[in-house]
Amino acid sequence: MSPLTFGWNIAGTVDMVGSEVDLKVGDPIWGHLDFDPFQKQGSYSEYVVMRANAVAIRPNNLEAAKAASFATTGLTALQAIRNYGGLESGKTLLVIGAGGGIGGVAVGLAKQLGAEVIAVCSTRDIEKVKLRGADKVIDRKNEDFTKSGIKVDVILDTPSKYNFSKCSQLLKCGGTYVDLHPWTLFSGFLQALVSGKKCKFAQVQSKREDLELLGEWTLEGMPLPISIESHFPVRDLGEALHQRLKPSRSGAIAVTIEGGW
Ligand SMILES: NC(=O)c1ccc[n+]([C@@H]2O[C@H](COP(=O)([O-])OP(=O)(O)OC[C@H]3O[C@@H](n4cnc5c(N)ncnc54)[C@H](OP(=O)(O)O)[C@@H]3O)[C@@H](O)[C@H]2O)c1
Repeated sequence: MSPLTFGWNIAGTVDMVGSEVDLKVGDPIWGHLDFDPFQKQGSYSEYVVMRANAVAIRPNNLEAAKAASFATTGLTALQAIRNYGGLESGKTLLVIGAGGGIGGVAVGLAKQLGAEVIAVCSTRDIEKVKLRGADKVIDRKNEDFTKSGIKVDVILDTPSKYNFSKCSQLLKCGGTYVDLHPWTLFSGFLQALVSGKKCKFAQVQSKREDLELLGEWTLEGMPLPISIESHFPVRDLGEALHQRLKPSRSGAIAVTIEGGW
């Protein structure tokens, strides 16, 4: 029986290709493993097998560790706000958790889509979130944004600490609340049905066309709110995961394969 391996996001080079694959051995790629509850392979390994359409050529201004981190945060944020939320130019997005990984990226991507962004974060992240392009920042430590009276088209709840019923009054008619966890989906979905608003759970999917769009925007100079706090060789994976859980962590933790196990 093969062991379960963790990890979702990857950046590396193509080692072998199947038939009808338009990538070549040696191509620098980035991507995100497909979600599959029965899947045993993870990205914390020397080799992974992926669908060709789940990876894209890595932009040359994006080093591997940042690309791996951006693959998951970028795809999740883009698909959550654009595909699930229906965000487009002229609409307004409220991002809860804008100081975090996915929330921070969502602020920049929403600006790229031409939307107005209201960001909710802790006091320590306010300046960082303003630099990401937020039009208005709400300090969640000093203000209850659920009582702010604002009206938006889309809400992205990255920590999933709120739910449709707590946020519904902030949505315009027809607006969408997007959660990154399915916990409250059922109750939210029922409430949304009678409210004329929508409640959705966004599940990231690795798609080459989305990676290519993110890569294009990166090459055009879109600021990337991604910093790598430390690199760990894969043999120190336990320590890397331990660092990942530290509340004082200020950036992503990269796991590198050089040297192997
Ligand atoms: N559905 C999917 O496809 C998918 C894909 C990837 C990840 N995820 C999930 O998405 C979640 C977010 O990931 P991430 O990488 O962005 O995490 P992260 O970097 O830890 O960011 C979470 C943010 O939420 C904020 N937060 C925590 N409690 C809060 C509260 N009560 N009110 C408002 N903000 C609060 C935190 O900031 P402060 O506490 O400092 O305010 C932090 O900035 C994770 O749970 C992850 O499992 C889902």
